[in-house]
Amino acid sequence: MKPKLSDFSEEVVNGLLSIPKKISPKFFYDNEGSQIFDEITKLPEYYLTRAELEILETRRTDIGRVIGADATVVELGSGSGQKGLLLLKGLIRPKELVFVDISIEALRNAVKLVHTYFPHIAVKGICADYTSTDVMGQMDIPGRKGIVFLGSTIGNMEPEEARGFISGCRRLLSDGETLTIGVDLKKDKETLERAYNDSKGVTARFNLNLISRINRELGAGIPGDAFIHKAFYNESRGRIEMHLQSTRTQTFLIAGNEINFEKGETIHTENSYKYSIDEFSGMLKDGGFNRITLWQDSGQRYALFTATI
Ligand code: AVJ
Repeated sequence: MKPKLSDFSEEVVNGLLSIPKKISPKFFYDNEGSQIFDEITKLPEYYLTRAELEILETRRTDIGRVIGADATVVELGSGSGQKGLLLLKGLIRPKELVFVDISIEALRNAVKLVHTYFPHIAVKGICADYTSTDVMGQMDIPGRKGIVFLGSTIGNMEPEEARGFISGCRRLLSDGETLTIGVDLKKDKETLERAYNDSKGVTARFNLNLISRINRELGAGIPGDAFIHKAFYNESRGRIEMHLQSTRTQTFLIAGNEINFEKGETIHTENSYKYSIDEFSGMLKDGGFNRITLWQDSGQRYALFTATI
């Protein structure tokens, strides 16, 4: 599924009329973009996905013990379902697995995948935008719950939004229930910048796909050499920033709006916040969680936190 054309058109135009110019990273993931992202997860420089999979593979029994027996586990942004499947292998007598994702195709595949491996476990898919936690408020889940949010997707939120998301989850949970979140950790600038400037240029293609998408869906006719990919670590803010930089002074007509670019001007397309273990533990505690357990990959680049009320 994709947001309605009018949403894309409206949000792109509003973002390009703002100062500084910006487009939300949620628009990266049309069919092409999702495919390119899949390629990113396999790049040698992009350690995040491999690190998280390593934790899920080697620690799933411990994770399952902390989430607790007989739980209904709700995975937000479940994607292909591969990580949910790994998690499920470590759960003790899971009651049900609920996938929540914005893409109906991804949901279908994820549910099918789990059903193939665990035909006796109840699995269901909910097509929704999980960034508003009220989706879960509307789900009536009897028994123990565990909310799971993997992939370091929380890095796309502003720290204040991330805090809001954590408190939103806290309000849906009761005593002894858990929230599990995957987080990319702060580390040296070189490693971080390499992960977003890979040598094959796949991340550049991922970022530039936004321009192709504007051309495909809004008929903007922007030439292929109008923008270049920029990604750098903003150390003081603790985030990778991705931008599309205009190669010249140029003007485009997008959905009837004249949009002007100066040479070197950028469209800010993504923030990917990195946290230290102390920072993120503090955010979970501030959000009302008492006990925090965490696991790291062998390279200590990434952490999976499970917070219990
Ligand atoms: C899916 C948001 C976790 O921030 O690393 C990958 C997206 N952007 N390469 C990230 C992304 C550029 C990714 N997240």
